[in-house]
Amino acid sequence: MSKILYEGKSKIIYEGPDEKSVVMYYKDTATAFDGKKKEELTGKGKLNSEISGIIYNYLTQNGIETHLIKILDDNSELVKRVEVIMVESIVRNVAAGSFSRKYGVPEGTALKNPTTEFSLKDDALGDPMINNSQITALGIATAEELDFMTEQSLKINKLLCDLLEKAGIRLVDYKLEFGRYEGRVILCDEISPDSCRFWDIKTNEKLDKDRFRRDLGNVLGGYENVLGRIKDVK
Ligand code: TYD
Repeated sequence: MSKILYEGKSKIIYEGPDEKSVVMYYKDTATAFDGKKKEELTGKGKLNSEISGIIYNYLTQNGIETHLIKILDDNSELVKRVEVIMVESIVRNVAAGSFSRKYGVPEGTALKNPTTEFSLKDDALGDPMINNSQITALGIATAEELDFMTEQSLKINKLLCDLLEKAGIRLVDYKLEFGRYEGRVILCDEISPDSCRFWDIKTNEKLDKDRFRRDLGNVLGGYENVLGRIKDVK
């Protein structure tokens, strides 16, 4: 096994075959509430890896540069070695979670336009929302990088909504991460039921990590459902 460069809550990053790449391994650990709730869900890593792989390949085919080089095995991908930008880009199509709590909007309310926001990637601080001038003031990213990330996030939103609608899934909201690579900003991390809210388009049944956060049971049943539906949609 190669050297571990970094171990996070749900992934391990191993040294890659060269300086420009690393191996990203999806763990079975499920965490929520900035790591305060934690459980092993056997098979989650494989499911997220496959779901994210399908989505990243689809995004690549549609002109979005991502870190994915190739899928190596059930739980691992070879990815470009990026310098992660320490903010998360959150896009919402339907009110849920922190948006509903903060602004008093019932969960499930369709938004008149997609919203974008950044939050600081810092569990100890609870990933607080942060605005563009605060991010540039702290030297975390430049205004140009932030504009590009927002623009890409919205492009990705259109592509994902298209794909998921065909699979009978409502894309409620999700989180993206970006990194610097050879002078460009590219999509990294994962897009999976861990980082998105996916609802059944007809019944609004939750098929994502809210099953774990809210103790709804059959967490992996939701993830398997998502995989089964997006597998054959193109
Ligand atoms: P949000 O509603 O802000 O937070 P919470 O899950 O605490 O209610 O989350 C919006 C979307 O972004 C949701 O699909 C979960 C995802 N997300 C992450 O995957 N990781 C994060 O650290 C944050 C803040 C959000």
